[in-house]
Amino acid sequence: MGRVPYKPEFLARITERRAALRAELASSLPARQALVWEIGSGHGHFLVQYAQAFPAKYCVGVDIIRDRLNRSGKKRDRARLSNCHFVQAEAHEFLDALPVGVSFEEIWVLFPDPWPKKRHHKNRILQAGFLEALAGRAGEGTRLYLRTDHAEYFQAVTALLSNLQTWRLDPAAAWPLEQETVFQARAPAYQSLVAVRTSHPARPAGTAAPRPPPRVGPR
Ligand SMILES: C[S@@+](CC[C@H](N)C(=O)[O-])C[C@H]1O[C@@H](n2cnc3c(N)ncnc32)[C@H](O)[C@@H]1O
Repeated sequence: MGRVPYKPEFLARITERRAALRAELASSLPARQALVWEIGSGHGHFLVQYAQAFPAKYCVGVDIIRDRLNRSGKKRDRARLSNCHFVQAEAHEFLDALPVGVSFEEIWVLFPDPWPKKRHHKNRILQAGFLEALAGRAGEGTRLYLRTDHAEYFQAVTALLSNLQTWRLDPAAAWPLEQETVFQARAPAYQSLVAVRTSHPARPAGTAAPRPPPRVGPR
């Protein structure tokens, strides 16, 4: 059975949303500074603390849930931070909409939706293609930080990273700041890893194909 084609209205809405995101990022991100990016920044507990602890870094948190971003923005404003910015976007679309030349010095993924059922693994954010796309915006030495309470997801990402030439696991790397997030507070246990961008060239990233509105994980 062939795939049902997307309706023109759906494609038009996506094109419009992506154009708006491109314009927002072009006007709001610093032009010449590698970013600290938190994917799925939730209620902003981590990133606001991080931006406060490292004022010379420019931190950007991305999430798809408006209410969480509003709360994050309020935390940032209470702390009077000018180096912390929150954007409502789906992570692939954010990556795709970044202005040419913008790169990452750090990428944080804290308690990503685990999509525990095997048939839903395709919805997980950390997959080989996405890790390669991240590598395309990361210079040698950029760090990727992951923390999750889902043991099988942790193992799967560890295996993916071990098989990619663009990232190398660094078990000795330090965790630069401990700040409990909403989902960390709920987790009975969790595991963390740090991967470092190698000098191996990344595969050129293609434009993200139209995708249905992102689904929020089952928690
Ligand atoms: C389990 S919560 C963790 C939130 C926060 N990091 C914490 O530790 O409390 C996962 C977050 O990722 C966001 N999210 C899920 N898929 C996403 C995607 N594709 N792009 C951006 N954010 C996403 C969700 O909206 C949610 O806020």
